[in-house]
Amino acid sequence: IELRKENWLLLSACSKEQTPLHVGVWSAQGLEMSVGKIPFLQAVNGSTVMLPCTYASCIGIQDLYFNWQYNDNGTMQKVCEAVIPTEDVVPDVQIHKERVEFIGKNNKNNISILIWNITFEDGGYYTCFGKNPKEKNKNHSAIFHLIVVDELRVVDNTLTILIASAVGGAIAFLMAFMLLKNLTLFVLAKLEEKNKECLVSSSGIDNTENGLPASKADSKPTPKKK
Ligand SMILES: *[C@@H]1O[C@H](CO)[C@@H](O)[C@H](O)[C@H]1NC(C)=O
Ligand SMILES: *[C@@H]1O[C@H](CO)[C@@H](O)[C@H](O)[C@H]1NC(C)=O
Ligand SMILES: *[C@@H]1O[C@H](CO)[C@@H](O)[C@H](O)[C@H]1NC(C)=O
Ligand SMILES: *[C@@H]1O[C@H](CO)[C@@H](O)[C@H](O)[C@H]1NC(C)=O
Ligand SMILES: *[C@@H]1O[C@H](CO)[C@@H](O)[C@H](O)[C@H]1NC(C)=O
Repeated sequence: IELRKENWLLLSACSKEQTPLHVGVWSAQGLEMSVGKIPFLQAVNGSTVMLPCTYASCIGIQDLYFNWQYNDNGTMQKVCEAVIPTEDVVPDVQIHKERVEFIGKNNKNNISILIWNITFEDGGYYTCFGKNPKEKNKNHSAIFHLIVVDELRVVDNTLTILIASAVGGAIAFLMAFMLLKNLTLFVLAKLEEKNKECLVSSSGIDNTENGLPASKADSKPTPKKK
């Protein structure tokens, strides 16, 4: 468990990326792209969905380049792209995919898009990509998974909840596991204790029997009697 805790800390430390500007000087947090807390969506074919994405930067942006890319069987296809001069300016977005609309309008760093009347081909992984010249054009991205289904099933909702509480579940599982392990160890220890007791008592009987004359050939050493 200790190891896992460390991993968690490492993970959260990594997400707060820092870039060295000059030797010994560390910049504030760089650009961050986010597709929200739940990075996937399950939707019925024919419906209209939003792929959420926002950016954040402590040092501010200037001519931020962003695009949405679709992973089409391994090759990345551009869905749309634009350069945002400054925050709160509605950028001129080039759309490369049919039925796509830029609805974020860079309102509060919102660069979400809408896909109208989705088909099964629209399902897959979408990357929200950003690059801020203010921080040496470093690449940043976040991935959103769109799952297109025939119809929504109740089981799938359960699955969603399961995934959303996966962390808590994992911890609960670990705790249960540890408890079980401790319980097992405890029971094993108790059993061992009991065995030892048995050994002691039987050896005690042995001792008394040793005290008896050993010439009795037909007598069997039965420690049952107490
Ligand atoms: C979804 O796909 C199924 C199977 O291809 C089709 O029968 C159905 O009409 C589609 N639904 C919509 C809303 O397009
Ligand atoms: C996608 O990849 C699979 C296997 O990698 C291949 O069989 C299939 O033809 C590909 N589809 C397209 C549209 O490229
Ligand atoms: C989506 O489908 C509706 C009805 O099928 C149609 O009226 C609308 O034009 C479609 N929208 C786009 C952007 O294709
Ligand atoms: C982004 O804009 C869309 C459309 O206005 C809105 O539905 C969505 O909630 C916004 N997302 C965030 C994170 O503000
Ligand atoms: C950054 O993204 C560009 C595409 O915009 C790509 O050509 C380049 O290789 C990427 N650089 C890194 C370090 O990933």
